[in-house]
Amino acid sequence: MKTYQLIRILEEFLEEYDATLLGIQESKRDNFERFPAPGNGSLQCFTAEVLFHNIGIFGNKVDYLEDVYPRITTLNMRLASFLEKKGLIISGSNAVATVCIVPHADKYGDIGKSLPPTLRPSRGQLIIRHKTLTEKSTYYATMAKRYGESVGVVTNNGTVVGPDGGLIGSACRVADTYENKISVLEFGSGGGSTALALARKKKLKSFFGNDFSPEMVEYFTTSVTPILSADKIKSPIFLGSCFDMSLETKVDLISVGVYYQAQTALFNKRGHELVKCLNKSGALIIQSSMQEDPFNTELLSGELKNNSIWPWYNKNFHLNTFFRYVARYIIEQETVLIATNSREKFLQIAKVLSYDGNFQKLNIA
Ligand SMILES: C[S@@+](CC[C@H](N)C(=O)[O-])C[C@H]1O[C@@H](n2cnc3c(N)ncnc32)[C@H](O)[C@@H]1O
Repeated sequence: MKTYQLIRILEEFLEEYDATLLGIQESKRDNFERFPAPGNGSLQCFTAEVLFHNIGIFGNKVDYLEDVYPRITTLNMRLASFLEKKGLIISGSNAVATVCIVPHADKYGDIGKSLPPTLRPSRGQLIIRHKTLTEKSTYYATMAKRYGESVGVVTNNGTVVGPDGGLIGSACRVADTYENKISVLEFGSGGGSTALALARKKKLKSFFGNDFSPEMVEYFTTSVTPILSADKIKSPIFLGSCFDMSLETKVDLISVGVYYQAQTALFNKRGHELVKCLNKSGALIIQSSMQEDPFNTELLSGELKNNSIWPWYNKNFHLNTFFRYVARYIIEQETVLIATNSREKFLQIAKVLSYDGNFQKLNIA
């Protein structure tokens, strides 16, 4: 579909939601969340910036994960079926395009009726073997050349959510800024690709994993732990929510790979604990959104000023509430935020990441 055609369709869709289309941007990337990816393997992405005059549309309560995100899901599902009727398929295994709404709150808006919530529970469930993954995906084959073997992680809804190129790429580069091996804690460790990539570089001292999926923890224990143990790397894993994992050990790197919708809630509930759990020169990496759908990244980075108008907004969503230095990068076609309270570490990380020529934005609180 052409952008000018989509503008008319989106305007028609948004009329019902008291919202105005502000602008639209088209981009393209590898389709790494479908396996095998349909068509030629790439995804046509449309990002629609939308001003909502009803600022209560996504609810009024502060809990983003429980109250806000499920209403955004409702809007996205309605958009997908509206577009399907117009001939554009943006969801399911055959979709070769995506349309993302980036919501902006109208500062002259009112609190009106909220959308009903839609709950779509998801967890990592199946593993795609490395050989199969790389044979049928040029994106994952390229990743394998850069970082070595990793397995695919598929959710119960059929989406491929791992390996996370953004996390693997940033963890490896951040590790390069340390002279010695590092200790790592990862929320949402899935198929263990971050741990294995670091171990292969001889940069991993210890790994504390976490996943709320029994299937993923079982896979980690039977297939990843033995590889790490052979190198004398301890790798306990906690089965349960990232909100419940014990944070008593100090580490050099925290990697956040849990679903985007849980990330603001994680900082809201545990931001100060995360800072305490990091060594002085420690850093946190978080794979915060797809490039074309920056809303979650912007909630975390505090970049979109109008977001503070939402009735559910909370400044504890911001990384800068907890970390003085926050940088935003595109790594392996995924958006990653990197945060630290050490000026020296921040500069070292900026140095190792700058040669990529990738999008880079550095914030100093
Ligand atoms: C994006 S995948 C991470 C994949 C992993 N980085 C890899 O390369 O294999 C997210 C994983 O986090 C788990 N997860 C999502 N939300 C979670 C939460 N709130 N607490 C714990 N685990 C979570 C999912 O079950 C899934 O396995």
